[in-house]
Amino acid sequence: MQDYSTEFAGKRVLVTGGSRGIGAAAAQRLIDGGAKVVVTARSRHEETPAKAIFISGDLRTKEGAEAVAKEAISILDGLDILIHSAGAARVQLTSIDQIAETEWLDSLDINFLAGLRITHAVLPALKAAGKAAIVYVSAGGLIPFGTPLAHYGAAKAALNNYAQNLAKELAPAGIRVNVVTPGPIITPGGDEVRNTITGAMGITDAQFFAGVPLQGRGGKAEELAEPIAFLVSDRASYITGHNHFVTGGWGELV
Ligand SMILES: NC(=O)c1ccc[n+]([C@@H]2O[C@H](COP(=O)([O-])OP(=O)(O)OC[C@H]3O[C@@H](n4cnc5c(N)ncnc54)[C@H](OP(=O)(O)O)[C@@H]3O)[C@@H](O)[C@H]2O)c1
Repeated sequence: MQDYSTEFAGKRVLVTGGSRGIGAAAAQRLIDGGAKVVVTARSRHEETPAKAIFISGDLRTKEGAEAVAKEAISILDGLDILIHSAGAARVQLTSIDQIAETEWLDSLDINFLAGLRITHAVLPALKAAGKAAIVYVSAGGLIPFGTPLAHYGAAKAALNNYAQNLAKELAPAGIRVNVVTPGPIITPGGDEVRNTITGAMGITDAQFFAGVPLQGRGGKAEELAEPIAFLVSDRASYITGHNHFVTGGWGELV
C-alpha cells in the first residue's frame, strides 16, 4: 500500500468548518499527510484537530470571510489548498411557501455566499501559489426530503453552479475546483438534521439509514475526508469542475 504520510508536506491549507464533522476529518487527514492546516469556525469544539491552527470567524458576512482569509494567509505565509466545509441545514417542518424569508437569506449566506466570499478573499494567494486546489463540501440534487431542506438545497445548488463556473475560469491558471456531495454522514450537524427529521416522521435511525444502498448505514466523516484529500492532491491533477457524490449510493443522481 502507498504511503501518503508526506503527500502534503509543505502544503498550506485552510479548512472552513474545520472545527468538527467533515471539515475536522478533512483537516486531520491533511495534517496526517504533512500539511500545515488552519481551520476556521465560529468556535472550537472537542473534535477540532489539536494540530490545526484555529481561527475564530463567522463567514456569513464579507468582512467576516475577509478577516479569516487575511489571518490564515498571514499565518501560513500563502495558501495552496482551500477546503470549504462550513455550512448549516436548519430543518423547516412546514410547506415551502411558509419558510420564512429570513431562513432563505440565512441559508444563502452560510451555504452559498460564505463559499463565494472566502474564495474571493483567498484567490490572490491561490493564484500566487500556482498549482492550487479548492474543494467545496456541498449538497443539492440529492435532497430526498423536499420541503424541510428546500432553502438549504437551493443555496447549495447555487454553490455547485458557482463552483463549475469558477473551475472553468481558473483552469488555465492550473487551479482545480471540485465539489463533494455527501450522503447522510454522522456528524454533529448531520445528527441534528437527522434527529429532527426522524422525530417528525416518527421513524428510527435504522429506518432512516435503510434508504442507503450501501449496507443501510450512515457515512463516517473520515469516508468524506479521504476523497477530499484525493481531490486536492496531485493524484487528481486532471480532475476539475465536477461534483463528486460520496453517498453510499443514496439519493437521486441529478
Ligand atoms: N453531515 C451530513 O449528512 C451532510 C450531508 C450533506 C452535506 N453536508 C455538508 O457538509 C458540510 C459539513 O457538514 P457537517 O455535517 O460536518 O456539519 P457540522 O458538524 O455542523 O459542521 C459544520 C461546520 O461549519 C461551521 N460553521 C457553521 N456556521 C458557520 C458560520 N456562520 N461561520 C463559520 N463557520 C460556520 C461549524 O462551526 P461553528 O458552528 O462553531 O461555526 C462547523 O465547524 C456542510 O456544508 C454541510 O452542509 C453534510
